[in-house]
Amino acid sequence: MKQSFMTLQRHIIEEERRHPQATGELSSLLWDLSLATKVISLEVNKAGLVDILGFTGEENIHGEEVKKLDRFAHEMMIRAMDHGGHLCVMASEEEDNIIHIPKNKKIGKYVLMFDPLDGSSNIDANVSIGTIFSIYKRVTPDGKPGTVEDCLQPGVKQVAAGYTIYGSSTMLVYTTGHGVHGFTLDPAFGEYLLSHPNIQIPKKGKIYSINEGNYKYWHPGLKKYIKFLQKDEDPEEKPYSARYIGSMVADLHRNLLYGGIFMYPADKRHPNGKLRLMYECNPMAMIVESAGGRATDGKNRILEIQPESIHQRVPIFIGSEEDVLLAEKFLREAEVEAV
Ligand code: AHG
Ligand code: MN
Ligand code: MN
Repeated sequence: MKQSFMTLQRHIIEEERRHPQATGELSSLLWDLSLATKVISLEVNKAGLVDILGFTGEENIHGEEVKKLDRFAHEMMIRAMDHGGHLCVMASEEEDNIIHIPKNKKIGKYVLMFDPLDGSSNIDANVSIGTIFSIYKRVTPDGKPGTVEDCLQPGVKQVAAGYTIYGSSTMLVYTTGHGVHGFTLDPAFGEYLLSHPNIQIPKKGKIYSINEGNYKYWHPGLKKYIKFLQKDEDPEEKPYSARYIGSMVADLHRNLLYGGIFMYPADKRHPNGKLRLMYECNPMAMIVESAGGRATDGKNRILEIQPESIHQRVPIFIGSEEDVLLAEKFLREAEVEAV
């Protein structure tokens, strides 16, 4: 039997209908976001054809090179989102300060945080990259411009989160807290169609994803954990597979579907890890938890961390519940041993 079509637009509206008090604003906000990602997807797919590759010559606030597509994606998100009347403030990984809604536009009740292009070091190599977004309700009074206070909310307060992955096809995955749903962009008619309803991450996987080049900087507990996954001391047992692309979106998307653990730990060179709490870790933690997985900094639940600054970094262990629990156990035990 042929399946019936479910477009992203219809899905978003039906999801919102489940909440009797809903006004439809979140639906149109998500819809605007999906439009922005379609434009970014088009540009990403053209990247090899037009003269858009290479560096802008600038560095972003994290001291990393900014490539032209990062900038394009950042500006496209703002252009698509600043006039819908639903947002009071935005923040992007690519901008030092919070982004205000233009003076002549309606100010809404939602807050949008985003990583416009994740995995941007992979652009030139035609490797999968993505866009990550996170939505909160404002905490300051309605009608006025949003403030940093609206942005500095713990991840548990997110009302929606998601990402698009620009891979062998473009997919949008989102949650409003009731299941995680994946849509594939049909390139012929430009519509996201439901392809992965109600994604559940396996309780335990067979894949680990970490930048193993940093091994010598790691915590002893982490070294032991990775050796355990490699079944170093047990010749009979099959080791885990290592898979690491260097785009969090792509690495996590794969692990979400197949099961496994993704880690960007604190180490001697990165005392707080590398990934950003607001643009990467919180939205991905909401997605993974809603799919039945787990996300911590090695000890504490990512979603409960009270942010202190919009660009704050945090170590992350995220993926299948049993895998993350085991990683935490190794870290804990090594700390006890060290005392
Ligand atoms: P971004 O391109 O947004 O700066 O993010 C890159 C991040 C993340 O996607 C990835 O998991 C990580 O950097 C890779 O870092 P390493 O190269 O240090 O492994
Ligand atoms: Mn990123
Ligand atoms: Mn980025």
